[in-house]
Amino acid sequence: MKKLFIKTYGCQMNAYDSARMADLLAPLGFAGTDTAEDADMVILNTCHIREKATEKVYSELGCIRGLKEDKSRNGGRMLVAVAGCTAQAEGEEILARAPVVDMVVGPQSYHRLPEMIARIARGAGTRIEADFPALEKFDALPEAGSDTGVSAFLTVQEGCDKFCTFCVVPYTRGPEHSRPPEKIIAEARSLSARGAREIVLLGQNVNAYRGQDNAGKTWSLARLIEAIAGIEDVLRIRYTTSHPRDMGDDLIEAHGAIEKLMPFLHLPVQSGSDSVLAAMNRQHTADEYRALIARIRARRPDIAFSSDFIVGFPGESDADFEATLQLVRDIEYAQCFSFKYSSRPGTPAAAARKQIAESVKSARLDVLQKLLLSQQDAANKAAIGKTMDVLFEKPGRGAGQIVGRTPHLNPVHVEAPARLIGSIHAVHIEALTANSVKGRLL
Ligand code: 5AD
Ligand code: SF4
Repeated sequence: MKKLFIKTYGCQMNAYDSARMADLLAPLGFAGTDTAEDADMVILNTCHIREKATEKVYSELGCIRGLKEDKSRNGGRMLVAVAGCTAQAEGEEILARAPVVDMVVGPQSYHRLPEMIARIARGAGTRIEADFPALEKFDALPEAGSDTGVSAFLTVQEGCDKFCTFCVVPYTRGPEHSRPPEKIIAEARSLSARGAREIVLLGQNVNAYRGQDNAGKTWSLARLIEAIAGIEDVLRIRYTTSHPRDMGDDLIEAHGAIEKLMPFLHLPVQSGSDSVLAAMNRQHTADEYRALIARIRARRPDIAFSSDFIVGFPGESDADFEATLQLVRDIEYAQCFSFKYSSRPGTPAAAARKQIAESVKSARLDVLQKLLLSQQDAANKAAIGKTMDVLFEKPGRGAGQIVGRTPHLNPVHVEAPARLIGSIHAVHIEALTANSVKGRLL
């Protein structure tokens, strides 16, 4: 067997893609390994969302260069591929800047990897694949391989047509494309047959899902969730990431009606200021977002929300930032991600005149993160003393411990036998630790 090392950066969709690449290369004799040292093939599945993410790729390539040289000194050969969104955005530049790289493959072209490997062995042909043949990709990728884990990702939609002015995704992942429902349901069945008990439906804009079935009918995400909920061994369903504009009535209804759909929703708002939201091209106001949250809470009162925020977007004033803080106070999030605005080449916001000083961005991020953390702590504390259903996922850090998640996605450590992994049990939540809570099996 040849050794394949894949390092994954960025979002869950990259994690899904990395697993598919491993499945694709298995028939060529590649078996996964967890270190780049001595690997026969290294794939960096990269992220381009912020400048920092892209820098990481180049510094990692610096390390890989040393390993590749060691390997060839010992008479071996290491193939190095850069995949993912940085590959899509900077293909030529990567080959020019990092000669250690043998091939560059964009997120819609992974199915071409075997062909590329053969080409490179012959020393002929192009070393970059970066088209958007979205229809081909899913048809050509093998189904999920053997080790699914208790919680499994399933990509249902890719790409984005929203063009938020800060974001590279519409350029790196291409236009929105939804997979046909039959294929998704078949994959969900196959995942559950191999041990998955929770299915996380993935898409850059997952609630914009519009899949066409064999009869030519269009399915919404709500309908897809309902169908997957019909699979007996699937105990829990989640979906991410959603856009507020695509939160359809039937999806809101589903949160009240489908028990397997977990009461946790990642619904990024980015800012609480109407003028910043407009400049970001988010296509809604802060009050529309508040009203949407209220409607979802009315259908599912115990639902927990999370969001992404960007501070220091071009032109963001102190008053705009204060409006973001006010929105956070109004919503009360369970957990959030927050970032300093990072100018991305080729996006409209990068050309805006009123860029914000780094020091101002840092100060605002600090204030926002303190507020978000206090809300997260409050949400965690509220869980103490309650009984919650926990789906156990894997062995814990301590001996005799296993770890699972509550419906609200909080990790819970419990002293319990490993045979409970893969099933849901009632747990009494007793104490708070650094990043999780401790519970006692009932
Ligand atoms: N700068 C900072 N954060 C960004 N995000 C996307 N683009 C940028 C950028 N240019 C954040 C958004 C998005 C999350 C995945 O990353 O908050 O929701
Ligand atoms: Fe980027 Fe906006 Fe599309 Fe999300 S909705 S991927 S932030 S362009």
